[in-house]
Amino acid sequence: MGKPMDRKTIRIAMIPGDGIGIDVLKEAEKVLKCLDGVFQMGLRLDDFDYGAERYLKTGKTLSAGELEELRTYDAILLGALGDPRVPDMKHTSDILLGIRFQMDLFVNHRPVKLLHDRLCPLKDRTRQDIDFVVFRENTEGLYVGIGGIFKRGTPDEIAVQEDMNTRKGVERILRYGFEYARKHGNKKVTMADKSNVLTYGHDLWQRTFAEIAPQYPEITSNHLYIDALSMQMIKNPAQFEVIVTSNMFGDIVTDIGAQLQGGLGMAGSGNLHPGATSMFEPVHGSAPKYAGKNIANPFGMILSTQMMLEFLEFPEAGARLEAAVIACLEEGKTTRDVGGACTTTEVGDHICRILERNRG
Ligand code: NAD
Ligand code: IPM
Ligand code: MN
Repeated sequence: MGKPMDRKTIRIAMIPGDGIGIDVLKEAEKVLKCLDGVFQMGLRLDDFDYGAERYLKTGKTLSAGELEELRTYDAILLGALGDPRVPDMKHTSDILLGIRFQMDLFVNHRPVKLLHDRLCPLKDRTRQDIDFVVFRENTEGLYVGIGGIFKRGTPDEIAVQEDMNTRKGVERILRYGFEYARKHGNKKVTMADKSNVLTYGHDLWQRTFAEIAPQYPEITSNHLYIDALSMQMIKNPAQFEVIVTSNMFGDIVTDIGAQLQGGLGMAGSGNLHPGATSMFEPVHGSAPKYAGKNIANPFGMILSTQMMLEFLEFPEAGARLEAAVIACLEEGKTTRDVGGACTTTEVGDHICRILERNRG
């Protein structure tokens, strides 16, 4: 069970960030310590105060040196970033997008997996119908911040925001989707774009997809425009296995995906660069109105922790954690957004009780 005792220490950088990110990361920490007791993984958790509070006090977001330090970790667990006191999102951009871009975490892996039938917002759908993954390109597209504003604040104002798509970037995320499908026995990869309108940027997606798909003859390749994909996620989610899409579209459809799982509090994600330090965070944000109230759902954070454990090659610990979340859902030990009456900390405590109860 777990890794042998003589294995190296696994160092995890913990960044709570802002708002409910702070509340839910505490539960991830609690659960990780508990799991480490069971599986002897040799985890070392180090805290970093990168976020709005530090930015407002010191003007610092994330320096080049701090980013270099993060690279020395095996993985990063992040709560959320975003604070109404920083309306221009400067610190979110530097810290969250900074980590994604500078560390070249080109895969945003966002599973859409319903863990309990009761949580599904769709009529007559069950766990069998909702179980797919979205791979969102995570380093390009509309997120690169190329553009500008001319004649700001005047009636002649012009705002330009470029959508950057590179052959290398598009190819590597498509290939990752096919390789994942091959490894996991999936039969279908769906690529979603808006190539009917974005006739340059998404034409590149079309041509690259057409070139790569035949290299995976055992996998059916499928294309949907992103608007149609959004509709099909509601109409017939069971048709999907692996979806690959661009940065902005992936952001949007994974909020729809989160709701298919019971809400934003239920969705986990990984920002990956295979073989390198990767970052794990819930799909949700800092939900300022719930911050510090001990009511945020910690499952999205805990399921991101599960993804991190799997990435770090502790599959049994990951599986045990997912089973504990499912057990909580079955016992009704959840926060109120998913029908329970527990606080954030009570849910974390209950996960630990289940892990202790099932320790083999
Ligand atoms: P949000 O995800 O923070 O919250 C939207 C709503 O979803 C909340 O009001 C709440 O009703 C629900 N919700 C989200 N997480 C929940 C949880 N764990 N438990 C219970 N309910 C939950 O999105 P928003 O309000 O659009 O954004 C708030 C801030 O977070 C903004 O600054 C935004 O930019 C930022 N944000 C950050 C990340 C990130 O760090 N990865 C992701 C999304 C948004
Ligand atoms: C997400 C968030 C971020 C994104 C924001 C906060 C920059 O919405 O992680 O889904 O758009 O990627
Ligand atoms: Mn988002």
